[in-house]
Amino acid sequence: MKNFLVFYGSPRKGGNSHLLGEALSEGARSKGAEVKEIRLFPLKITPCIECGKCDETGVCILEDDMTSIYPLLEKADVVVVSSPIFFYNITSKTQALVERSQALWVRKYVLKKEDDKERLGVFLSVGATKGKLLFNGARLVMKYFFDAIGARLHSCLLIKGVEKKAQIKEHPYALESAKRLGGLLAEGGDVSSIEGIWLPNSKK
Ligand SMILES: Cc1cc2nc3c(=O)[nH]c(=O)nc-3n(C[C@H](O)[C@H](O)[C@H](O)COP(=O)(O)O)c2cc1C
Repeated sequence: MKNFLVFYGSPRKGGNSHLLGEALSEGARSKGAEVKEIRLFPLKITPCIECGKCDETGVCILEDDMTSIYPLLEKADVVVVSSPIFFYNITSKTQALVERSQALWVRKYVLKKEDDKERLGVFLSVGATKGKLLFNGARLVMKYFFDAIGARLHSCLLIKGVEKKAQIKEHPYALESAKRLGGLLAEGGDVSSIEGIWLPNSKK
């Protein structure tokens, strides 16, 4: 049985990225996965203060809601981040999660304490506009976040042209794709036929 950890990065509960992540979670659970969902906005997660203490220990000295997230990241087989695009990036709360993964980056690259667990990283996102480069910045951030936490960016579902709260319901293929993605990830299946999927080796 696979363990999923799903982060919601939008301030809007029931908004587009929330619905997308919930659909993925539903698909994963339907195939027997255990799914833990975390909304980041209500949590206290301080951005990295660059104190350098984790350089020696691989452990962050800040004590806030991130403290209980580190063990969950370690346990997870699949880590999903679902954030809307704010100014061509993930939201600031999601960015705080990313920055606090610095302690794990240190463990891996400075202290050479990498575990050998195979983790998959999945990025779900939505944006109001339809530009070609809309998700490029956020996708790059996600690639390096997943690398820091000992995962690899496996797939992205990136939905353009949704702005109003829950407008994604007008795009049933998006929610259906997320649900299918969750199920296939839980089963270890091939996701390449999912509509709207972006895989790291694809050219788009
Ligand atoms: C502060 C802010 C910045 C935004 N920046 C962008 C942007 O750069 N590009 C874009 O296409 N949409 C942008 N949007 C629109 C949101 O990405 C869009 O409304 C999205 O559907 C919100 O998802 P949610 O319902 O999950 O919060 C922005 C919205 C806000 C509130």
